[in-house]
Amino acid sequence: MSGPNNEFDPVEVTPLKAEEVEAMTEAALAAVAAATDLDALKQVRIEHTGDRSPLALANREIGALPPQARKDAGQRVGKARGAVNQALAARQAVLEAEHEERMLVEETVDVTVAVDRRPRGARHPLTTGAERIADVFVAMGWEIAEGPVLEAEWLNFDALNLGPDHPARTMQDTFWTDPAENHVVLRTHTSPVQARTMLTRTPPIYVACPGRVFRTDEYDATHSPMFHQVEGIAIDEGITMAHLKGTLDHFAAAMFGEGISTRFRPSFFPFTEPSAEVDLVCFVCRGTAVDADGATCRTCRGEGWIEWGGCGVMNPRVLVACGVDPERYTGFAFGMGIDRTLMFRHGVEDLRAFFEGDVRFATAFGTEI
Ligand code: PHE
Repeated sequence: MSGPNNEFDPVEVTPLKAEEVEAMTEAALAAVAAATDLDALKQVRIEHTGDRSPLALANREIGALPPQARKDAGQRVGKARGAVNQALAARQAVLEAEHEERMLVEETVDVTVAVDRRPRGARHPLTTGAERIADVFVAMGWEIAEGPVLEAEWLNFDALNLGPDHPARTMQDTFWTDPAENHVVLRTHTSPVQARTMLTRTPPIYVACPGRVFRTDEYDATHSPMFHQVEGIAIDEGITMAHLKGTLDHFAAAMFGEGISTRFRPSFFPFTEPSAEVDLVCFVCRGTAVDADGATCRTCRGEGWIEWGGCGVMNPRVLVACGVDPERYTGFAFGMGIDRTLMFRHGVEDLRAFFEGDVRFATAFGTEI
């Protein structure tokens, strides 16, 4: 039979021995001192004060000591943990301050450095205008096509029923290129794209073609030897002038606002029969010919209408020349000046503004997408 318990039985669990606790403390303090950044310090905190750290494990052993030994060991471990926590906090403060200082240096913005003050410019109104027009047609399921600006004489004229002796050839003052026997012109309108489209596609065809055209015109406020047109062509079974009118009314409303429609005036184009000039209800006075103050509307000059372009039902001779069976298919075509459309849409008084490259002009359109 064993005797009664001693008053004091200094049986100590190994991790609680003074030297052990001291070694743990020293290791922890050394690790704290060695941590050079906040991430490293976080790691040290986990290793030396976390649940599985030697000091935490030692702390847990205290309960295993005889009651008389607990106080001593408890104080020893408590002091050690306190010292480590204090060292951690102190190091944390130092590293945070260092970090902050480094950020301040690294992220310094020198507000005195000269910035690039050049204005940004904007996309050219003709580019955005042509895109807007293309969008109107794409939204109706049409396709967009382009053709070359240097065009075969045959496509610019002959295929469109403008034979060599046709008086209408003189309607368009043509830039011819050398050598003459190549029969290449700077296209005078986008209508050769009608011919190109019909020659390369089979109906049904619904194609719009925005592009640059050239005529030997004077360069003044309303004329330019280079300008832009958009051509539209639809070839299908049963196409009539009513489809043409509906399409142009929709185009007008999409460009100028709800309620702006078109009217046709009889005209002549060799490639369409019947042909018409298209006018647009003046979108400023809405056809009343007077402005809000009762004065003559300046946009339409008191007409109530604005001349917009030409159009008509495809001449069967053109269909035949371009390989489309006129017994089966009919079609329509129209052509407008893009520059002209934008001039009255935006109240631009001088056509030359589009071509002279003054960025202030383009910037005024810059907010238009
Ligand atoms: N090509 C004609 C012009 O430039 C416009 C037009 C196109 C007319 C299509 C009718 C059909 O004047």
